[in-house]
Amino acid sequence: MTAINENFLKLKAGYLFPEIGRRVNAFVEANPKAKVIKLGIGDVTEPLPPAVIEAMHKALDEMASRETFKGYGPEQGYGFLRDAIAKHDYADRGVKVNADEIFISDGSKCDTGNILDILGNDNLIAVLDPVYPVYVDTNVMAGHTGSADSQGRYQGLVYLPVTAENDFTPELPSEPVDVIYLCYPNNPTGVVATKETLKKWVDYAIENKAIILYDAAYEAFITDSDIPRSIYEIEGARDVAIEFRSFSKTAGFTGTRCAFTVVPKTLTVKSSAGNDVSLHQLWNRRQSTKFNGVSYVIQKGAEAVYSEAGQQQVKELVSFYLENARLLREGLEKVGIEVYGGVNAPYVWLKTPDELGSWEFFDHLLEKAHLVGTPGSGFGAAGEGYFRLSAFNSRENVEEAVKRIQKLME
Ligand code: MLT
Repeated sequence: MTAINENFLKLKAGYLFPEIGRRVNAFVEANPKAKVIKLGIGDVTEPLPPAVIEAMHKALDEMASRETFKGYGPEQGYGFLRDAIAKHDYADRGVKVNADEIFISDGSKCDTGNILDILGNDNLIAVLDPVYPVYVDTNVMAGHTGSADSQGRYQGLVYLPVTAENDFTPELPSEPVDVIYLCYPNNPTGVVATKETLKKWVDYAIENKAIILYDAAYEAFITDSDIPRSIYEIEGARDVAIEFRSFSKTAGFTGTRCAFTVVPKTLTVKSSAGNDVSLHQLWNRRQSTKFNGVSYVIQKGAEAVYSEAGQQQVKELVSFYLENARLLREGLEKVGIEVYGGVNAPYVWLKTPDELGSWEFFDHLLEKAHLVGTPGSGFGAAGEGYFRLSAFNSRENVEEAVKRIQKLME
């Protein structure tokens, strides 16, 4: 008789965004005339930058001729893209990351889940609360937790609450943990971490022989020059941190799929036999076995992000969404809503008005204003009473959304 991975049965609900989609579809079916504006899932709306499109067209033409055709690429990614990332995202900013420490992939969501393949099953794992649900759910699937309690918190995980009361900056864990997930600019709260905050975590990891899984998928939205864009800007981080980055939000690749993960060669963990084991080697082994790389055409498109024209276009794209975030933030503040984030980040995190529960506010906004956002409690128990709006949409929709919320609050 076939057995299943029973850990899946511990998962509380469907994955958050499909669950929202299901509710929205039901509403639209019942109200076909409603013009629903979606500021829920952080999915980009603007087309790919022209430099990217041009590079992808050229690459596709290469695939059309025997002389330039490409079959399997390197599982770690093509050298041209790894070199461009090492230069532009790291060396040019004074950060040491070598091209061969960069692994090209099809997404940070996949990589933050897949990384568990190379970690043991007995690690004590810390996550912020609220948190990007993938970190939690993939640990549940891997059998690293017990069951969920009535608030949806899984036994065996260490939750570090981040709320307005602590300025969305978590306390260090009160017990030693082995793995810490950090995401900055943060999804969902939209807050950023200062150098001091990150240093505190790096020092903690060094002291406790822990590792940090650092999700920097939204780093392109940092405009403040004092805010670190990479954890490797912090001394010692190369010995304790893996960094995840993505072209999804930076360059509009959510549907195109290209990201990368940095596993420094200096990052080692002790095996049960007491030997230092390189996580870089393990990840390389994992990727070569389970992954065949991102397509050549897409990697050529990603490379073009680093061309002069590409850099300019991407900057404009990011500014466009940041302006949306500003409009949302200021528009909501005007009607007395308490708003956080949305400055160096594409997410605006708000306190639900009139003490409404997160899902109550979700229903209220959908029914009365035909607007979709993401309930804070969907990101964790400490997100209850909060709500996330994404700045990824057209200007017209964002302006209309602000008007509708203001009207609702009258
Ligand atoms: C979000 O809305 O939180 C993101 O779109 C999720 C993701 O990038 O997977």
